[in-house]
Amino acid sequence: MGPIIAANWKMNLVKDQVVDWIDKINQSQALEQDVSLIVCPAHCYLTMLQGSLTWGHIGCQHVSEHSEGAYTGGHSAAMVKSCGAEYAIVGHSERRHIFGETNADIKAQLRQCHDAGLTPILCVGETIEQRQSGQFESVIVDQLSVLSSQPNPIIIAYEPVWAIGTGETATPEQANDAHAFIKQHVDNKSPVLYGGSVNASNCEGLLSMPSIDGALVGGASLKPDVFSDIMRISSTLIEA
Ligand code: PGA
Repeated sequence: MGPIIAANWKMNLVKDQVVDWIDKINQSQALEQDVSLIVCPAHCYLTMLQGSLTWGHIGCQHVSEHSEGAYTGGHSAAMVKSCGAEYAIVGHSERRHIFGETNADIKAQLRQCHDAGLTPILCVGETIEQRQSGQFESVIVDQLSVLSSQPNPIIIAYEPVWAIGTGETATPEQANDAHAFIKQHVDNKSPVLYGGSVNASNCEGLLSMPSIDGALVGGASLKPDVFSDIMRISSTLIEA
């Protein structure tokens, strides 16, 4: 398996843009066949991707901690699975900080993913204040504690909060050190993706590092040409 390159569209793109995106990425298949592609759109586009994306995998950006019922606006893991998702982003820092999700919520979401047969992409990462005050390790260990009863395969994404959407990336060495720490903590059982302002110019440096298995790409995944460039560059860097 080559590098895992996941697109996190967040709350972006309208339908016509999604049609164009899928069209362009479908055409790029021959070039990027060594990449494991995971596209995570807003929930309303899942079935569109299911019907028209000719390669790669589909993920969602969030699942409810509940399995079904009177939770207006919610999406259950079983629902997104039935619309084509195989993966689910869990614990993204925007969900933690904007929506106030706690480790208890994240644990419940992981349980829902497990029950529905979705592979979680668990996001962890420290704020700049936590990094500067030497709390990096304790923050990451606390965020990884939700995995204690997680029996199934999982992907981890290391996304330093200070690098998300800011244009400021962790250096390849900083990211590699963080990944090595995470991998050791989970007994090397999970691939670890880097996320935080990944683009076509910095992906080579990051994905050349030994402990970086792929990327979770936000802003730069919205433009199919740029995202294709990221996949093409990455496909040459990580071997099976
Ligand atoms: P970014 O977002 O690439 O825009 O920094 C990454 C993410 O939040 O997953």
